[in-house]
Amino acid sequence: MPQPNIDASKLKVTLTETPKPDYDNKTLSFGKNFTDHMLCIKYTEENGWEAPEIKPYGPLAIDPAAFVLNYSVETFEGMKAYRAADGTINLFRPSMNMQRLSTSSQRIKLPEFDQEQFLQCIKELVKVDQRFVPDQYGYSLYIRPNFIGTEPNLNLMYSKEALLYVYLSPVGPYFPRTVKLYANSEQARAWPGGVGNFKLGGNYAPALKPAMDVVAKGYDQILWLLGEDHYVTEVGTMNFLIFWVNEDGEKELVTAPLDGIILPGVTRDSLLALARQWGEFKVSERRVTMPEMIRAIADGRMLEAFGAGTACVVCSVSEIFYEGKSYAIPVDPSNPDAVFGPLTNRLRTELLDIQYGKTPSPWAVPV
Ligand code: COI
Repeated sequence: MPQPNIDASKLKVTLTETPKPDYDNKTLSFGKNFTDHMLCIKYTEENGWEAPEIKPYGPLAIDPAAFVLNYSVETFEGMKAYRAADGTINLFRPSMNMQRLSTSSQRIKLPEFDQEQFLQCIKELVKVDQRFVPDQYGYSLYIRPNFIGTEPNLNLMYSKEALLYVYLSPVGPYFPRTVKLYANSEQARAWPGGVGNFKLGGNYAPALKPAMDVVAKGYDQILWLLGEDHYVTEVGTMNFLIFWVNEDGEKELVTAPLDGIILPGVTRDSLLALARQWGEFKVSERRVTMPEMIRAIADGRMLEAFGAGTACVVCSVSEIFYEGKSYAIPVDPSNPDAVFGPLTNRLRTELLDIQYGKTPSPWAVPV
């Protein structure tokens, strides 16, 4: 007998008796406010996936000996719901998040799940809590699916019990300004043969101490370099892209390739696709080293640098610290107060217009 997979038609909904007051967009910072409900779907190897359940947002009961608490058997996703002017609520390319969650969960031996059915349950959760989807451009409802191993067992096997759960957080801009990065070649976020391309919680915890050390020095985030040639990988909360005139004199938008080191970001993929559609300059996924970037800054060939991710959307980089020296990156030479460079802003606007339903696109998927 095959075990039951996730079945959205069996979704049980229990509504809260104590709804939260509406949030004011002005007070929304990233990831600190949560909605009324969450989605929980339990798995056991013995019985497969149980009926999905939407229930009031609240603490989880987890055995202290659960795999997730001992061996970090945890993967997560970041998605957003956007309110269009006509009231429609859209997700953005959600099947990419489902696919990435599946790929990440396989790496830590969590069970397979039906991506379509899970997405259907997420849509239902967003519908139940739709009053929390902000109505202002640049604001959205962040969706955080978590997948954890819950079996209480200290043997280093795989977890035979699991919980897939999703909660929602109305959010404003992650970085409402340009950011300063600190290039780190001493430590590594990811390495060849490692797990940098999977969205595992275990990738983020070891970055916290180095990240806080650079915050104490006045920088926002780490730009992770790798290897002796100081290959520029990603920022950790976002992928990293540059727009420059390369050493052959061509204008080029470049980001690190999907070589197992960096996270395959949905925003990264979307921006590359948009720029390729324009066909106005070269768009490359290839390795660039920090010394190459420094030469470009010194020669005035570095036009823009920016991060891209679901949480931060698109974020211009104004400065990078590298080997004892700080290098200013032009954001917009024609406007000293600019928060986004011209190309960064054009990409951001095209992306947001799709997400908020201003530009029709198959990437915007109504709930
Ligand atoms: C996202 O962009 O959705 C992320 O998961 C980044 C997170 C570290 C805030």
